[in-house]
Amino acid sequence: MKTVTIQGRNNISRLLVGEKLEKLAHHLPKTGKCIIITDGNVLRHHGERFPKADLITIGLGEGSKTLETVRGIYENLIRLNADRSTFLLGIGGGIVCDITGFAASTFMRGLSFGFAATTLLAQVDASVGGKNGVNLYGYKNMIGVFNQPDFVICDPDLLHTLPQSEIRGGLAEIIKHAVIADPDLFDFLEARREQVLNLERETIMRLVHDSVIIKSQVVNQDETEKGRRRILNFGHTLGHAVEKTMGLSHGEAVAFGMTVAATLSVQKGLLSQAACDRIINLIAACGLPVRLTMDLDQVLPALQKDKKRSGESIHFVLLEDIGRAVVLEVGMTELETAIKLEYRNPKFETNSKC
Ligand SMILES: NC(=O)c1ccc[n+]([C@@H]2O[C@H](COP(=O)([O-])OP(=O)(O)OC[C@H]3O[C@@H](n4cnc5c(N)ncnc54)[C@H](O)[C@@H]3O)[C@@H](O)[C@H]2O)c1
Ligand SMILES: [Zn+2]
Repeated sequence: MKTVTIQGRNNISRLLVGEKLEKLAHHLPKTGKCIIITDGNVLRHHGERFPKADLITIGLGEGSKTLETVRGIYENLIRLNADRSTFLLGIGGGIVCDITGFAASTFMRGLSFGFAATTLLAQVDASVGGKNGVNLYGYKNMIGVFNQPDFVICDPDLLHTLPQSEIRGGLAEIIKHAVIADPDLFDFLEARREQVLNLERETIMRLVHDSVIIKSQVVNQDETEKGRRRILNFGHTLGHAVEKTMGLSHGEAVAFGMTVAATLSVQKGLLSQAACDRIINLIAACGLPVRLTMDLDQVLPALQKDKKRSGESIHFVLLEDIGRAVVLEVGMTELETAIKLEYRNPKFETNSKC
């Protein structure tokens, strides 16, 4: 097991990479009771490995990430006689983690909490950085708080029950971390594609560990999201527009967004074509889309609505090399050209076996 320590505003948070779910009880406070928050899928697959504790089960999907669900949790906490010494433990993916963190931070002005992250995305992204929130009227993560969990357990064995699509979603964020900040991680991903896709334990531990370090370092340098933290948006500006308009999963949309951002970086003379080809090849090898048949008439207006847009240009994360990202203003016309180039790019074939 490897521990990564993050200094939050109010507490120190420990990310325990490779810790087994069965060992969870060792990390709980010695006093006060623990209440688990989970969802039906996680309970069905891994419930028998949970520590003994009262249980609150929430619904599945983004539609459950609401204040109504949080209200239901508050009601259950009162029914279970929760008090200021109660510890809330979220066992699940990004949705369970976000909701648990939010409910814990607000109930009785704040309870201690921790996570066992059960999706690859939650292990490498959602449980790191201290953001906890819920959706409002369909707007994602509109209501939320910054607060770090006391610990996050990342047990690679939990990932074997995930559908392939969920693995790919986590891989997209890992590729993003490598491409913006860690050339060694990128080389490792390239060299160990098979082991990655087979969820080989040691390989996954390295991916999770390195990803968590990258995200936490970037977040620590910039808690307010005005400067360097923006590089975590690599692939996400176009990704969000494609996700909204074309009904792709977040990971698929971000993957395509990353291919366009890499192409645009070449177009602007920042990145070599060889580096761009390596990035697109890796994304394709992980079964993620690098080409899309899309309706530009829908995607471009969605992009123009992006909140990071100022005038005729948009803040865009580009690459100078694998492992080195920069944020630059990009004109809408330039962006359109890169999208058009990429969405009919015949050079790369997505790995259809994934
Ligand atoms: N707080 C942050 O910084 C941050 C960062 C990125 C994403 N997020 C949020 O994370 C959420 C997405 O997270 P997610 O992709 O983990 O989604 P999720 O929590 O919905 O999990 C995906 C699906 O997998 C199931 N599942 C979870 N673990 C499983 C397991 N081990 N085996 C089988 N099935 C399992 C879940 O029940 C669900 O159906 C979004 O709401 C997003 O906004 C938050
Ligand atoms: Zn993302």
